[in-house]
Amino acid sequence: MIILGIESSCDDTSIAIVKNGEELLSLVTSSQDEIHAKFGGVVPEIASRNHLLKLPVVFDSAIEKAGISIDDITGVAATCGPGLLGSLLVGLMAAKSFAMARDLPFIGINHLEAHLFAARLKYGGVEEIPEPPFIGLLVSGGHTSLALVDENYNFEILGSTRDDAAGEVFDKIGRIMGLGYPGGKAVAQAAINGNPDAIKLPRALHHSKKIEFSFSGLKTAAARAWNSGDYSINDMCASLEAAIIDSLVKKTALAVRETGITKVVMAGGVCANQNLRKSVKAAKAMKNVQVYTPHPLLCTDNGAMVAALGSFRLANGERSPLSLNAYPSLPKVMKALKEETISESK
Ligand code: KG4
Ligand code: ZN
Repeated sequence: MIILGIESSCDDTSIAIVKNGEELLSLVTSSQDEIHAKFGGVVPEIASRNHLLKLPVVFDSAIEKAGISIDDITGVAATCGPGLLGSLLVGLMAAKSFAMARDLPFIGINHLEAHLFAARLKYGGVEEIPEPPFIGLLVSGGHTSLALVDENYNFEILGSTRDDAAGEVFDKIGRIMGLGYPGGKAVAQAAINGNPDAIKLPRALHHSKKIEFSFSGLKTAAARAWNSGDYSINDMCASLEAAIIDSLVKKTALAVRETGITKVVMAGGVCANQNLRKSVKAAKAMKNVQVYTPHPLLCTDNGAMVAALGSFRLANGERSPLSLNAYPSLPKVMKALKEETISESK
């Protein structure tokens, strides 16, 4: 089974080829970070136009790097949401066209669910693969959620952020500190030489018994602290990172306690953060919990996670019709995939 996966939900055009669901044969990603940096965020129209320009080159390169012939591909997967509509459509249409032209099975993929499947690739020293049920901590530029993947691989959101995503806070505060866009990596780098206790920043909903996050108050407080001119960039970054990590660890522990599930899979761009990875593993409440962290390269948006989940779904006899559409919002993606997925006998 050799599956081609296409991810184009935001500004990365990424295509991967995965063999037997676990072996990454190739992953090629074309990033648009530089193009959008001057706007301080992703401009949807520019993103979709660039996907269109880059996709054919990324496609050829992924096949060449995998060392396979195009005839070896046995199935196609593509993200159909959530994300930017124009961007999603480019990758989805390319995948459906390829599947139709080659008469290959096709499956549409939920981007958030795919993030969790990055942990199922044997890549970068990762040998142990999480079997469900597990809790997923999904933290990216657009989403912050805790999810449950049950023993039948059904995906359910346990709770999310009420307002901003954690990555959005890294990006916004990184930008006002002049660290470029997206700012998460640069903030983490500066935090290494800073004092995490230098600035008192809020940890919203810390004592609430609900699995939910809120980061907008933190964003406002951090911006105000920075604009006061009283703090160094390193202390600012370390304090901001610590506040975000505290909230993520606290609610992950709550999800573990409430569900009794003792496996946690970390996923999404913010989970590339080394201090977050260490803090989740080291938390007292996580003592008997096995924490899976995909290679940082597979935490940010990539085609490998799409191909990995696609491999699983296709092997399970699941197919999407070629009429499947793209959906910007998570509830609509989940609804479309639930209603439109065809189950073929294995
Ligand atoms: O999953 P992803 O690539 O794209 C979305 O689906 O949003 O996540 C991108 C986010 C950005 O907000 C970026 O600043 C953040 O991940 N990020 C990090 C780190 N690397 C990327 N945040 C904190 N520490 C990092 N090392
Ligand atoms: Zn993502």
